[in-house]
Amino acid sequence: MAKQLWNKGFEPDQLIENFTVGKDRELDLRLARYDVQGSMAHIRMLRKIGLLTEEELSLLLPALQEIADSIERGEFTIEDGVEDVHSQVEFLLTSRLGDVGKKIHSGRSRNDQVLVDLKLFFRDELRDIAKAVDRLFNCLQDLSEKHRDKLMPGYTHLQIAMPSSFGLWFGAYAESLADDMQMVVAAYNIANQNPLGSAAGYGSSFPLDRELTTELLDFAKPHYNVVAAQMSRGKTERAVASAVAAVASTLGHLAMDVCMWMCNNFGFVSFPDELTTGSSIMPHKKNPDVFEIMRGKCNRLQSLPNELTILTANLPLGYNRDLQLMKDIVFPATTELIECIDMACFMLGQIRIKDGILDDSLYDYIFTVEDVNRLVLDGVPFRDAYRKVGMEVQNGQYHPTRNVNHTHLGSIGNPANDRIASKMKEIMSRIL
Ligand code: ARG
Repeated sequence: MAKQLWNKGFEPDQLIENFTVGKDRELDLRLARYDVQGSMAHIRMLRKIGLLTEEELSLLLPALQEIADSIERGEFTIEDGVEDVHSQVEFLLTSRLGDVGKKIHSGRSRNDQVLVDLKLFFRDELRDIAKAVDRLFNCLQDLSEKHRDKLMPGYTHLQIAMPSSFGLWFGAYAESLADDMQMVVAAYNIANQNPLGSAAGYGSSFPLDRELTTELLDFAKPHYNVVAAQMSRGKTERAVASAVAAVASTLGHLAMDVCMWMCNNFGFVSFPDELTTGSSIMPHKKNPDVFEIMRGKCNRLQSLPNELTILTANLPLGYNRDLQLMKDIVFPATTELIECIDMACFMLGQIRIKDGILDDSLYDYIFTVEDVNRLVLDGVPFRDAYRKVGMEVQNGQYHPTRNVNHTHLGSIGNPANDRIASKMKEIMSRIL
């Protein structure tokens, strides 16, 4: 039996069906609960505007609830021959309720249906990302406090530069995550607008009550203009991808640092043996594969905005099937990012930091600026003090005092973790 919603009495070629459906039967499972939620709001609205009777609504709502329950139990599938989740839900309703089931699609199209599903889905994914970021943020802040006074070399041009600390290093990644969260919140706000009622992308001649569905689905506001609502397919995904890429860039950078600090030439950090990996030929190896995979995944995640931009650039206005392919790109990404964040929390929970790193004479020159500044505090003009210490270095006569006394806001002695925590709390309150 033909199962396309658009069937007009001929069977589409199997090859064509397989090619156009692509991965939708699998990916759409993640949209199923939202599809039912959207349908419930839509039919309540149809009742209000008189396109369904109270009796029809009282048959449809429990039937949709049953489908919702089967989704939560993990029993819902999209059958072979059914194109997508929207078709599957409608088929289930019509096979259970007959003609009443056929009424629910009045005043909507799969174009606004998939849009509403995606917006509800992305809202939840972005909230999950926010929760994961919050976990990592707290872990980094705790580590920053715990290792606050452990000094490490700071580098510029990968040459030793000035004293830094593990307090600063961990704390820096925490504060960077606060910036990334601005992107997550921005993506959330873009997703938090109701496209339902835009139908195929040009609205409907039924007097749809879009304010009602906005309220029922707890959207902040409607995407008012029906064409703008359709245009938000692509825009929303790109915003989500940019948020994912922002967090991934911070995490990828952190992963790179860990790989480098674990390198034998640095040896600043280490992990229990069971968290490292070995070599099939070199018996001594304890490799940082976890952070290498994390770095690789995070780098790949940063290509998503670009991939989506190329996929959607210059598409004609209105729905085009190309848009479906965005699901293949974005759906795995949010999951992968959260997995990387959780793995980072797990690993960092067991990180070991070497003590007394700067006692090694290798890092003597790290203290030159401290010594220049000390002379300045004693009244020597900065350029003269700089030249004096510079000449000592040049002539091999420099002996560091190894005194580090940074007190200003955001520096080694005053990393301002409490202020960073308040900043993050305020940003998180806009999404969680
Ligand atoms: N699977 C489709 C998508 O994700 C659903 C919308 C289909 N609409 C259509 N006009 N063919 O885009």
